[in-house]
Formats: sequence, C-alpha cells, structure tokens
Amino acid sequence: MINRPYLINFPKISDDRGNLTFIQNPDHVPFEIQRVYWIYDVPSGQTRGGHAFKTQEEIIITLSGSVEIYTSDGITEESITLNRPYVGLHVPKMTWRQLRNFSTNTVIMILSSDPFNEEDYIRDYSQFSTIR
Ligand code: TYD
Repeated sequence: MINRPYLINFPKISDDRGNLTFIQNPDHVPFEIQRVYWIYDVPSGQTRGGHAFKTQEEIIITLSGSVEIYTSDGITEESITLNRPYVGLHVPKMTWRQLRNFSTNTVIMILSSDPFNEEDYIRDYSQFSTIR
C-alpha cells in the first residue's frame, strides 16, 4: 500500500547543554509547511483527531510526553506511540487519525501542508470509508 504513515528522524544536535532539533525547508519535510499548531493540556482520557483530510498532509511531533497515534487508510490500521522530540510521524492525506493515551503534560506540534480549511476535513468515518 502506498501513502502509509511513516516516521521521520530530524537532526539532533547534542552537547553538554542539552539537545537541539530543527526542521528546515526543504530538507526534512516532504511538503512546504503552511501552518504549525500545537496541542497541550489534554485532560486524562481525552482523545483528539477523529477525522481525515482530503488533501492536507501533516507531521506530528511529540515535543514532550507521549501519545498514541492510531491511523487507518480504510484498510490498514496502525498504531504507534510517539515520545521522542526528534521524531515526526508523517500522516498522508486521506488517512483517518485518532490521538489517544496522552500522558500528563504532553505537548504535540503539528506541521501542516495547508492553511486551515474546515472543508478539507472528513469527520464522519462512514463517509471516509465510502469515498476512500
Ligand atoms: P480539530 O482539528 O478538530 O482538533 P483535533 O484534530 O486536534 O482534535 O480542531 C479543533 C478546533 O480548532 C476546530 O473548531 C477547528 C479549530 N482549528 C482552527 O481554527 N485552526 C487550526 O489550525 C486547527 C488545527 C483547528
């Protein structure tokens, strides 16, 4: 299956003062970043996501803490735990995602290929599986 989610390792510069990671166009991300947002203060037991995008691609990075990312292209389901600030999960377009099992104080940053557009969301799983 093409267009499955995959992990990207970003540069990690370590010295006595700690670690530094950076992302620079066009070296590390397979699209031009149009938007960055972040999610934090997620109450225990809450989930995020629960949708797919028609055209938008994203990269999810856990800056702090840990979160489980469930993805499905309508056929193949995958689940991965993200807990390293130098690793991103590329989530292709037309991929259902749910973010769950946030540990306390988790902060995730999402890089997006497009500006925000509610029209790009598919929030109904049965609709997603029909047009998939
Ligand atoms: P949503 O994408 O549903 O959050 P998540 O997928 O993380 O659970 O977005 C929540 C709300 O925030 C929704 O009303 C749309 C709004 N929003 C923006 O206005 N701009 C943005 O860039 C994003 C990501 C969301």
